Amino acid sequence: MPPLIATTIPDCRAAIHTAKSAGQRVGLVPTMGALHAGHLSLIERARAETGFVVVSIFVNPTQFGPKEDLSRYPRPFERDVELCSQAGVDLILNPTPETMYGYDFKTYVEIHDLQNVLCGASRSGHFRGVATVVLKLFNIVQPDIAFFGQKDAQQALLLSRMVRDLNVPVEMAICPIVREPDGLAMSSRNVYLNASERTSAPVLFRVLSALRYAVVAGERDVAALIGQTTALIAATPHMRIDYIAVVDCDTLTPLTLVHGNVLVALAVFVGATRLIDNIMLVV
Ligand code: PAJ
Repeated sequence: MPPLIATTIPDCRAAIHTAKSAGQRVGLVPTMGALHAGHLSLIERARAETGFVVVSIFVNPTQFGPKEDLSRYPRPFERDVELCSQAGVDLILNPTPETMYGYDFKTYVEIHDLQNVLCGASRSGHFRGVATVVLKLFNIVQPDIAFFGQKDAQQALLLSRMVRDLNVPVEMAICPIVREPDGLAMSSRNVYLNASERTSAPVLFRVLSALRYAVVAGERDVAALIGQTTALIAATPHMRIDYIAVVDCDTLTPLTLVHGNVLVALAVFVGATRLIDNIMLVV
C-alpha cells in the first residue's frame, strides 16, 4: 500500500490516532527529503521496531543560515514518495513552512553550550532550528521511537540531550552511518559535487580511518593527530577545512589526549559544498 501523505497537522494526527488506537507503536524518521540509502536504513530500522512508520519530509527553514542552501536544497518529492512506498512507510508528513511556522512563531529550543561548538560554531542558529523543528515533529507525531543517523553526530547528541532535559516521552534510536562503496558518507548534499570534487570527497573517510589506525598504533596526542589529518586533507584538491575536532563524546569538549569515548568529527568544504563526517573511538 502506498503511504498516506499528510500535509496538515490535523490529517497527520488523525492517521496517528487510528494507528495508535489499533495498538501500533509509532516510529518517526525525521528527514529533509532527497532520500538516499542513509535515510532508508533509518526507515528499515523503524519498520523492524515499530508497527506504523512515519517519515517527515520538511526542508526546515529555521536551521539554514542566510547564506546557506535553503532555496536550492534538492526537493525530489515524487521520487521520495516512491522510495518511501518501496520501503513500507505508512505515513509521510509533508507540511509547508507556513503550516510549521506561518503564525506568530516565538518559541525556540536552545541547547546551551553544545549548540555553539563544532558545526554550531560556523552555523549560528542551526541547532536551535533543528531542535525546535524536531520537538514540534515529536509533538505532532508523538512517536514511541524516533530514528536519527550518527552521520550528524552533534545533532543526535543534542536531540538526545533535549529529550532528556525536557522529559520528552520519545525513545531515541541512533543508527550507524551508511557510506558509498568508496567510503563517502551518504548525504543529500553529495549531488552538489561535480565529478572532480566527487573524486576528492572520499578522502574525508580515508583521513578518519587513518586517524583511527594511528590511535590503534598508539598515538594519543590530539595535536599530532589533527596535524596529520589536516596535512592529508590539504594535499587533496578542492578541500577547505571548516573544522577537525577530537572531543569527548558526551560533552563535546576538546581533548588534548585521546581517552575514553571519543568523537572525531570534521566538516570540510569540497568546492562550495560543506560535507561532514565522523568516527567514534573507545580508548
Ligand atoms: P537530513 O539531513 O535529511 O537527515 C535525516 C536523518 O538521516 C538524520 O537523522 C541524519 O543523521 C540521517 N542520515 C543522513 N545521512 C545519513 C547516512 N549517510 N547514514 C545514516 N544516517 C544518515 O538531519 C536532518 O535531515 C534534519 O536536521 C532534521 C533532523 C530532519 C531536522 O530538520
